[in-house]
Amino acid sequence: MSGVILKNIRKTYDNSKTVINNVNLEIKDKEFVVLVGASGCGKSTLLRMIAGLEDISDGEIYIGDKKVNNIPPKDRDIAFVFQSYALYPHMTVRENIAFGLKMRKVDKKIIEQKVQEAAEILNLGEYLDRKPKQLSGGQRQRVALGRAIVRNPKVFLMDEPLSNLDAKLRVQMRSEIKKLHEKLQTTFIYVTHDQTEALTMGDRIVVLNNGDIQQVDTPYEIYNNPKNMFVAGFVGSPQMNFIEGKDIGLDENVIYGVCPEKMNVTDGDIKRIVDVEISEMLGSETIVYFNIGNSKCSAKLESDIKPSKTFEISIKSSDMYKFDKVTGNRIY
Ligand SMILES: Nc1ncnc2c1ncn2[C@@H]1O[C@H](COP(=O)(O)OP(=O)(O)OP(=O)(O)O)[C@@H](O)[C@H]1O
Ligand SMILES: [Mg+2]
Repeated sequence: MSGVILKNIRKTYDNSKTVINNVNLEIKDKEFVVLVGASGCGKSTLLRMIAGLEDISDGEIYIGDKKVNNIPPKDRDIAFVFQSYALYPHMTVRENIAFGLKMRKVDKKIIEQKVQEAAEILNLGEYLDRKPKQLSGGQRQRVALGRAIVRNPKVFLMDEPLSNLDAKLRVQMRSEIKKLHEKLQTTFIYVTHDQTEALTMGDRIVVLNNGDIQQVDTPYEIYNNPKNMFVAGFVGSPQMNFIEGKDIGLDENVIYGVCPEKMNVTDGDIKRIVDVEISEMLGSETIVYFNIGNSKCSAKLESDIKPSKTFEISIKSSDMYKFDKVTGNRIY
């Protein structure tokens, strides 16, 4: 068993402000969990604490059923994949993948076998004798993954491993990492600031804000049942519209949330004429931007609908979320 448990984890760097506040999280064995949140919210700090690369100020971390607070990184049975691939430039792909095992004085035959296995899983067979500079970004990242795989870790920790790749390759590597997870049947903890990556990759998503967990749930629940305005505003592109109650002539003390794709339904019971400020043609869809009172909004339209200068929005009240104006918590 190699789940990961975080109990009352806190982190303060050098007695300055707290960057992780009392985080409690239970990651199951073989689960793919994504930590997501804006820059600076504490994702890397949390991951590095699990790895043992960063001290924890308070709390307990368990990997499997072993408390690891005082266990050094190399003995935690984890593998860490960084954003910068951190490959050795003077070594071949084979040597890079083998390096950690060689340092541990693993038998040469076993090393060769493990390198072959990893190369097969990652489709790196034909590149084993090349140096990193002779590889594309995606291939380099696969070498970094290979180096992690050969160690047979109980837990894979990945910190924005795809953010140095171009958009197309990122999409491709996203599904490769998902497949890798299925093949290896190991616990993955994956950090990203990209909500699309989180939604498409995670079995469960942990949404962080300022060192606090906002919600832990499946992608479906995060998207369809956000607990508060922070989570609702974080997922979806464009993000959910937040409309002041008074702007739409409804309950004054609440904020209404509506997804951009739900602003133009056929059987809406709330209709308003708005002025289109900008429209963006994206091929399969068009996004129009407008104001409802003082609330800035966007609607996602099928591309065969041509928005005119004015535009009638049509919303079903059952598609609207309601949030407390003060706390941001979901009312229903
Ligand atoms: N070594 C350090 N000393 C002091 N403060 C630090 C240190 N490392 C990180 N911080 C601070 O802790 C907070 C969380 O940083 P962290 O790197 O965990 O964020 P992140 O969510 O990974 O952000 P990003 O998406 O930009 O990588 C930030 O405010 C950062 O400035
Ligand atoms: Mg980070």
